[in-house]
Amino acid sequence: MELSTSQRFYERAQKLSPAGVHSPVRAFKSVGGTPIFFERGLGSKIYDVDENEYVDYCMSWGALALGHAYPAVVEAIQTQAALGTHYGTPTPHDVELAEIILSALHPFEELRFVSSGTEAVMTALRLARGVTGRDKIVKIDGAYHGHVDSLLVAAGSGLVTQGLSDSAGVTKGSVNDTLVIPPGRTEALDHVFAEHGKEIAAIIVEPVMANNGLFELGKEYLQYCRDISKKHGALLIFDEVITGFRLAWGGAKAYYGIFPDIGTYGKIIGGGMPVGAIAGSKFVMEHLAPIGKVYQAGTLSGNPIAMVAGIANLRGLQKTNFYETTRELGLYMDEKIARIQKNAGRKPFGFRRIESLFWFSFGSSQMPTTSQEILPHAKPLYAEIFHGALDRGVYLAPSAYEVGFLSSSHTKSDIDKLVSVIEKI
Ligand SMILES: Cc1ncc(COP(=O)(O)O)c(C=O)c1O
Repeated sequence: MELSTSQRFYERAQKLSPAGVHSPVRAFKSVGGTPIFFERGLGSKIYDVDENEYVDYCMSWGALALGHAYPAVVEAIQTQAALGTHYGTPTPHDVELAEIILSALHPFEELRFVSSGTEAVMTALRLARGVTGRDKIVKIDGAYHGHVDSLLVAAGSGLVTQGLSDSAGVTKGSVNDTLVIPPGRTEALDHVFAEHGKEIAAIIVEPVMANNGLFELGKEYLQYCRDISKKHGALLIFDEVITGFRLAWGGAKAYYGIFPDIGTYGKIIGGGMPVGAIAGSKFVMEHLAPIGKVYQAGTLSGNPIAMVAGIANLRGLQKTNFYETTRELGLYMDEKIARIQKNAGRKPFGFRRIESLFWFSFGSSQMPTTSQEILPHAKPLYAEIFHGALDRGVYLAPSAYEVGFLSSSHTKSDIDKLVSVIEKI
């Protein structure tokens, strides 16, 4: 595969930014090799600067539910851009996008737009602390909530671990109020609330853990989080930056029928433009400034180009029958993968799919049940698969721990390509 133009960009980029990238996983550090530079996308395909075509299963890390350059999103962006890129004022578009989002998120009543998932989570934590007057946040080991200081924590294997940052530059003070519990174990929830119940402002969960492998916490566990937080006067935050509008129109909250106090959103609601949101009841949300005392602001919040892209993207979910289309593709994928396993006479790898999210676990036929169980040799094996797929025109996320995303632009022949590439490798 010809990659010389990408190589030249990489040489220039390395002199200009750390590892030549603007978000670390893009650097291919965990799979080896050098990043590829892209310049075009259409539907399920992306094209690099050397004009190589790839079927894309990373889909802008899940933001592009409808595929690349979805016509209504492109048109909305072009129309708005000609009218000005940003005014720093309310616009009709933020009203319209908020109405669409809130109509899906019943019983949430209000939301506020920000510019990224991280920003949404950061605000949600501050809001939970402001509402409850408490400091501590319970986080699940292995969950990712963006690069918020207090949530960049590694945890031990105990029932409850005091947060210890796994990033340089995060003060002990920032993680002092983070309590980390292992995923899926209700006794850990009992333990943390028994010990710290009166100090806990909120539990934050990724309702489907999709940043460190793919793990379903399950309805019962989520219900337990709901019940125990309520019992102790703490809030429950669902971080739906990935699951929002993906698992279902109403996100994980509707999918499981469990209602948190605060939801955080990003990715799909901006259709590839930088948008995040925090949503909750009127009571909770009106603790935010200028009504309440919890300060939050943003120069580019509610950016009109991002708002119109979000509107077109969410409407497109319905127009393209996103949920039915991706479910059908997913079932087709399951069948094809099962056939590889059968032909091989054993399971050379594990595969898990939850609606339009999927994840391969290489190195063992046993599917890990938590991210802690991912075997160390899964990483080099994934690197082989990743590069083998890349050479054959399939773009997977450049990390063994990241999930794949189906969009309504993928076709059965795209799935055939992915499956045959994996079978060959
Ligand atoms: C569950 C979850 N929360 C928060 C974030 C952070 O979002 P962003 O990268 O837009 O800051 C991510 C990003 O992948 C995420 O998956």
